[in-house]
Amino acid sequence: MRILSKNSDGFLMLAMKTEIVSKGEYLLIKDENSGRKLVVQVFDEEYLSSQPLIDDMIRDEIAAASSIESIHDPLNISRISNLLRDARIYHTKIRASIDGGGMLTTEISGLPSRVYSKVRLLKISELHSLLGRTGKFPIPLGKAGMANENIAIYAEDLDGKLNIITGRKECGKSHLSKMLVKTLLEHGGYIIVFDLNNEYQGLAYNKDKSPSNISNRLIRLELGDVLSFSLDYCGKTGISNMLKNALEMPAASLREFMRIWDHLESKKSLNLTNIENAINTWNINEFVREALISRFHTVLTSKLFLDDKNRDSFKFEEIISGMNTGAALIVSMAEVPPIVRIMLVELILSKLVELLERTQIPPVFLFAEEAHLYVRDTYWEDIITRMRHFGIYATFITNQPDAINDGIYRQVDNIFLFNFTNDNDLDKISKVSLADRDTIRSIVKTLPQRCCLAIGKAVCDLPVVVRIDALELLALGETKKFFRT
Ligand SMILES: Nc1ncnc2c1ncn2[C@@H]1O[C@H](COP(=O)(O)OP(=O)(O)OP(=O)(O)O)[C@@H](O)[C@H]1O
Ligand SMILES: [Mg+2]
Repeated sequence: MRILSKNSDGFLMLAMKTEIVSKGEYLLIKDENSGRKLVVQVFDEEYLSSQPLIDDMIRDEIAAASSIESIHDPLNISRISNLLRDARIYHTKIRASIDGGGMLTTEISGLPSRVYSKVRLLKISELHSLLGRTGKFPIPLGKAGMANENIAIYAEDLDGKLNIITGRKECGKSHLSKMLVKTLLEHGGYIIVFDLNNEYQGLAYNKDKSPSNISNRLIRLELGDVLSFSLDYCGKTGISNMLKNALEMPAASLREFMRIWDHLESKKSLNLTNIENAINTWNINEFVREALISRFHTVLTSKLFLDDKNRDSFKFEEIISGMNTGAALIVSMAEVPPIVRIMLVELILSKLVELLERTQIPPVFLFAEEAHLYVRDTYWEDIITRMRHFGIYATFITNQPDAINDGIYRQVDNIFLFNFTNDNDLDKISKVSLADRDTIRSIVKTLPQRCCLAIGKAVCDLPVVVRIDALELLALGETKKFFRT
């Protein structure tokens, strides 16, 4: 391989057919004269297409079409010409350079020699050892490159971080997310999953339907069954946040609601029936009463709250304190109506924040499936900013990257990007993401199913294309079909 030319932040490389590499792979350029070493990443490929070469090909085609005799070629010129026709040009981006001490740096100065530079494939494992990348809790993801190297990230890279898994429909987002949940759990983490398609319970089983190694640490929470809260447990802040953010309760009505709450609490008679009575009899403006009644009706029908003195409220801290080696709480939301879903998410988040503030639970990893269904609103930006300080480390999984706010993207640490062909989606991500636009556009558009481009801290800011491994467990999550093949 040879350097052909340089553009603003990369090189064009000329490669013969025997030197073919795939998009996303890294190359090491070593200038034999100066000893300078550069690390570049291939993000696009094309044929060498100079005009004389194209003219030549056209001439050959015409000759072949109009003559049945074989062409006399004693000097074997056609072989050379074929090599040229099959030559590739790789577009690369400079990612780093290697200093005298063999360490990777982002300081890049001067051009390497076009004559004396040697170019070779750089394995991801070499790259990571140059970076001195280590970790205690590996999460194997899959394979990378022509060398089929095993690629793992470390649980530490997700710890305290905000992650997004995105890509078009059925490309393997939830599969990757399940893989992360499974391994975090094996490492003893505490995880909460908003499971919109009820597909995570499959993690409790191996492919042959026998219980998996994590089955006793997976807890499925279904609304109304285990998952219903007492008003006391949610507290005034939790309920009013829910009313404000999920049910868009106007400020005046919210104030009255708080007064009713305080009044009933002081009389030690706080329950749903008494709140309802108070709303009906309280001396308030009729518009405010209307607003309160309509919200309260939604609250009553949501099955989120217990009004039964004999049943205990669901308590996160109780469940978590009973699980010493980690736990994954899977909140089943497939059958939950959209508005109740948003209420539930809001309640859970405010409760978790409260428990974390009081250090009653350890930090948790939150996996939010189909996040576009409830992360649309701007207040999430604030939640995300605060969540990290409290100890909720979120991973959003979505096929609609434009539904997530720019403010959230700006705080993202890792993106696992599956195939997208739509330019709008790609632009959205590249505008705010941790890799440049060319890389994202060119690599992601041609990514096959089940392959993703990992970007961000988990890969030390050096994007890697990973072919995600299959799961040993029951993956579920297939699209239900009417016609079976
Ligand atoms: N790396 C993989 N190895 C084997 N099977 C996979 C892999 N990735 C995904 N699958 C399978 O492909 C199907 C679709 O994957 P998945 O449900 O993860 O896609 P998705 O992107 O979450 O789709 P949706 O947008 O519909 O939520 C599933 O049946 C899953 O088991
Ligand atoms: Mg999915």
